[in-house]
Amino acid sequence: MTFPPIREELAGIEPYGAPQLDVPVQLNVNENPYGPSDACIADIAAAVADAARTLNRYPDREFSALRVALAAYLSQDAPVTPDMVWAANGSNEVMLQLLQAFGGPGRTVLSFAPTYSMYPEYARDSMTEWVAGTRESDFSLDLEKARALVDEVRPSVVLLPSPNNPTGTALPPAAVSALCEAVGEGGLVVVDEAYGEFRRAGVPSALERLAEHRNLVVTRTMSKAFAGAGLRLGYLAADPAICDAIRVVRLPYHLSAVTQAAALAALRHADELLGNVAALREERDALVAWLRAEGFDVAESDANYVLFGTFGDRHAVWQGLLDRGVLIRETGPDGWLRVSVGTPDEMTAFKNALTEVVNR
Ligand SMILES: Cc1ncc(COP(=O)(O)O)c(C=O)c1O
Repeated sequence: MTFPPIREELAGIEPYGAPQLDVPVQLNVNENPYGPSDACIADIAAAVADAARTLNRYPDREFSALRVALAAYLSQDAPVTPDMVWAANGSNEVMLQLLQAFGGPGRTVLSFAPTYSMYPEYARDSMTEWVAGTRESDFSLDLEKARALVDEVRPSVVLLPSPNNPTGTALPPAAVSALCEAVGEGGLVVVDEAYGEFRRAGVPSALERLAEHRNLVVTRTMSKAFAGAGLRLGYLAADPAICDAIRVVRLPYHLSAVTQAAALAALRHADELLGNVAALREERDALVAWLRAEGFDVAESDANYVLFGTFGDRHAVWQGLLDRGVLIRETGPDGWLRVSVGTPDEMTAFKNALTEVVNR
């Protein structure tokens, strides 16, 4: 018997996490490169100071004011009421809670690879069986194959990032509806829109389908477009009965008073925080065009990152970039690399470093 007496299936597993390296150009975890303004920082600080006055008390466990503010924000895409909103410490926690409530022993969670690398971990941690179908060579979903797999596996939860991580591929609304129908009310279809705000013009959000499908859940986060990765605030929109069910598994007072205050203050600055999304989208499209012009294969991207390749030895390319102070992510199918969209200066540094590495 080894010590500590960890669950057998967890023994020897390395904790998840991209390298956190102190290098000049960090383009590896799809953060927003632009920080908040002084006015936003001051508002967050004042809100947190105010919350601190009552830190001897537990916070509002239903985070009612935050739900109102998040519902108002989401209603720009489709009507969402506060009782349709749930939030937690990052959308990672939202999805773990979904699996704790709707997955579990004897149940299956389905996704389609390549997909977000945390999903199998939520499955493992909630003791839900993990099944991954595959995407096509352009990383889209073949709906016939997807439906057949749903019929075979009868999943309790389907997890679909849109835009997909690591490929950047958005899911057409017709595919969302087809999967909701195939899964039926015996399961949930979770469309993970962590990068939803970066989608290209004309690409709809799955929020628009909420009214049609009771089993549809759309998750979002303040980590990416809102430039709030350090805030740890993720949320979802779904039928109120789904939000109610999650309340059974959440830890008591899981959203601290400080988090609620800071998130509310950040939401008051939504226009400013989201103000850089248009610039990041343009930068992304320019990066895709540049990579293609340089002769790389590049996946279509509706996100703030781009998957490109293919390399016989992708690790050598990743290392070559790191040696030049540029950190990107070695992830996705064999031979591909993923780079987050940064500031114009960061993109120039990335392009120069990549040119040097591949022409060595
Ligand atoms: C597809 C996808 N979903 C969810 C998350 C989780 O984000 P957070 O927990 O910061 O909200 C990420 C983070 O990178 C992601 O890429």
